[in-house]
Amino acid sequence: MKAPLALRLAQASSKMKIQMYNQPDLYDACTGHKVDDIPFYTHWAKETNGPILELACGTGRVARPLLDKGYNYTGLDLSPVFIDHCKIKYPQGNFITGDMRSFQLDQQFDLIFIPFNSFLHLYHENEMIQCLESVKDHLSEKGRFLLDIFVPDPEFLYRDPNKKYEEMVINHPTGETCTVWQKNQFDEETETNHIHWFFDRGDGKAQDEYQFDMRMIYPDTMDRLLVESGFTIDEKWGDYDGEPFDESSLLQLYICSK
Ligand SMILES: C[S@@+](CC[C@H](N)C(=O)[O-])C[C@H]1O[C@@H](n2cnc3c(N)ncnc32)[C@H](O)[C@@H]1O
Repeated sequence: MKAPLALRLAQASSKMKIQMYNQPDLYDACTGHKVDDIPFYTHWAKETNGPILELACGTGRVARPLLDKGYNYTGLDLSPVFIDHCKIKYPQGNFITGDMRSFQLDQQFDLIFIPFNSFLHLYHENEMIQCLESVKDHLSEKGRFLLDIFVPDPEFLYRDPNKKYEEMVINHPTGETCTVWQKNQFDEETETNHIHWFFDRGDGKAQDEYQFDMRMIYPDTMDRLLVESGFTIDEKWGDYDGEPFDESSLLQLYICSK
């Protein structure tokens, strides 16, 4: 049986296109599961002893454990909302609104990193190179640069673009249990995956939609970009435990110096 017209109109109008990177609580709800990379960053923080610069620091997921251990930490992110959130939540850190493609900080760092696929938000090679050049300018002579991106997975890229696949179930900031469904369409020309998330908060509730793009970067390309930008790839791991990268790896974890 159809819901009454007034209810249907309310439901339709409550569908909203949202932007995840200005909703810290929602971002945290969607990434609460992501903890497997923290030992990787604490390990390299200990090795280098900081000061540390995180590019695309988000809501401070990685900042928190590093600040808890007393490191000198700076985080930069494009989202002023995320940066304001971090400033309030972690007053002992230094948080800056900025663009990782070009930034000018009056400081050099012994550890710079870009975690959790954030580099895949740079869609053109010239933007990636600009970012790597800015990293190099801010990296001390003995400093390390860490980059974490996933290996493009053909099974994911070439799924049926008309079908919604369950991505995860989250505790939505509204207090509701929410299923996040995902559709994606891969554009081979631009090597960009167009991703569409649907937040289903249960029967008769709002279904918010979030669309974003991720540039797929194949291992040879990433190696080339780093070397052409003047980095030495000291190590390339395939997982956070330090397994060397090979053709079965899911992740590309670079440990570089200049
Ligand atoms: C997947 S989140 C990662 C956040 C955090 N590092 C983490 O690991 O949870 C991607 C972040 O990249 C930021 N971002 C996207 N493009 C950026 C750019 N050009 N410069 C700086 N930050 C950017 C977004 O605002 C978002 O916070």
